[in-house]
Amino acid sequence: MGKSDLLLELYSNLSTTGALSFSSKALVNKMLSHAEFKGAKLVVELGGGDGSITEGIVDRLDPDAELLVFEISKSFCDSMEKLFPQKNVRIINDSAENIAKYLDGRKVDYVLSSLPFSFIAQEVKNQILTQSKVALNQNGFFIQICYSYMLKTLFKKYFDHVNTSFTLKNLPPAFVMVCR
Ligand SMILES: C[S@@+](CC[C@H](N)C(=O)[O-])C[C@H]1O[C@@H](n2cnc3c(N)ncnc32)[C@H](O)[C@@H]1O
Repeated sequence: MGKSDLLLELYSNLSTTGALSFSSKALVNKMLSHAEFKGAKLVVELGGGDGSITEGIVDRLDPDAELLVFEISKSFCDSMEKLFPQKNVRIINDSAENIAKYLDGRKVDYVLSSLPFSFIAQEVKNQILTQSKVALNQNGFFIQICYSYMLKTLFKKYFDHVNTSFTLKNLPPAFVMVCR
């Protein structure tokens, strides 16, 4: 899938993608700067899309660590499977609300999400955030990219601490919410 096909998939499904562009390199770097990948064993990404964040994670991951990427679009999954053939990367064509089904009780070091929470139904949001919180190990973080500061209220319902950073170097400018 070329860049234009990926963008077409993004625009054709605005109600589930919730974005007019993929994350910029600067935003990905900002998001991932909040995570310490050295020593992390299991990382989960929610909403893989074109793989822009996935690429940043794969570049930083220890060789013995595993990455699970949830994405509901079959086209995006097919494209990511080609981009990331590594044995320790698993592309899962399922909704993020089913995280627990794929963990076999294992704990997660980081959940890295670019899901469009403003567009997701309340019950599904609740499932995703509850399961993410339960899945995280004691020192784990849930890190979210979003375009609205108002979403902080949502994350505060599930996590005791939510720290926010911001970058103008994305279209649109974006927040990174670091939750634990
Ligand atoms: C804003 S795009 C982000 C894409 C890419 N990670 C980036 O940062 O540019 C959100 C992605 O989440 C996916 N998505 C939306 N709801 C989802 C869900 N419930 N479970 C898994 N993926 C979902 C969409 O298909 C889309 O690819």
